[in-house]
Amino acid sequence: MGDKLLVSPILDSIEDRKKELTKKMEKQMLKRLQSSTYPMRQLLAFYKCAMMEVETKFRVLDEQFSLSHDRNPIESISARLKTLDHIYEKARRKGIPLTPECIEKGIFDIAGVRVVCPFEKDIYMLKDSILSHDDIRLVEERDYIASPKPSGYRSLHLILEVPIFLQNEKRLMKVEVQLRTMAMDQWASLEHRLMYKKEIPEDVEKELRNKLLECASLNCQLDMIMQEVKDITDLYVEED
Ligand code: GTP
Ligand code: MG
Repeated sequence: MGDKLLVSPILDSIEDRKKELTKKMEKQMLKRLQSSTYPMRQLLAFYKCAMMEVETKFRVLDEQFSLSHDRNPIESISARLKTLDHIYEKARRKGIPLTPECIEKGIFDIAGVRVVCPFEKDIYMLKDSILSHDDIRLVEERDYIASPKPSGYRSLHLILEVPIFLQNEKRLMKVEVQLRTMAMDQWASLEHRLMYKKEIPEDVEKELRNKLLECASLNCQLDMIMQEVKDITDLYVEED
């Protein structure tokens, strides 16, 4: 009984010391982890700024066009930043070393802006407008509208380089822009939702792929006819 009374405060103080040490170690580990991931988190912050910059440019173009033409060439606009997990996964897939420098040089779609337009001609009008900005450089263009992917996917992809202005420096960042009509967007969203990461038997998948290709062709016709209707209605002046 007496022994227990004597030992118990010692055990308690060992327990307290253990807790203290664990807390200290946890804090140190967290600090080390934070400082080792800082360059990558900083790079992501730069991409976020560039993405906002490009999104704003499109919003300004939309606003200006709607004032002069009384309609909006942009139906909707969205922006997304690739998650760190996806960045590392893509880097590994492409054999890119996992350093911020190599990732920046080798992956162009960390920041993405998607612009959905009512008509196909809006896409090319917006492309010409944004490329006329003297702070924008076109790094790469893939026109999957003129040459759709074998899946039936259509969109205009641009990799743009845009400057962001930091406290003491200017930095050029790459942003991927996907421009599509509403019909193209509907097809791409549904196809992705239906087919992505699904384990479908080969013969069934082949059949579904054919059906999706058929939908893509119908969507293409829809865009063409809509554009035709617009071009003809544009010849007539609006009633008061
Ligand atoms: P990623 O490694 O996926 O970036 O491919 P990539 O660098 O060759 O670029 P690509 O020009 O093929 O465009 C990739 C992006 O376009 C994807 O992230 C999708 O958003 C879109 N995309 C391309 N092909 C398809 C497709 O068949 N279906 C759908 N739904 N989206 C597609
Ligand atoms: Mg890409």
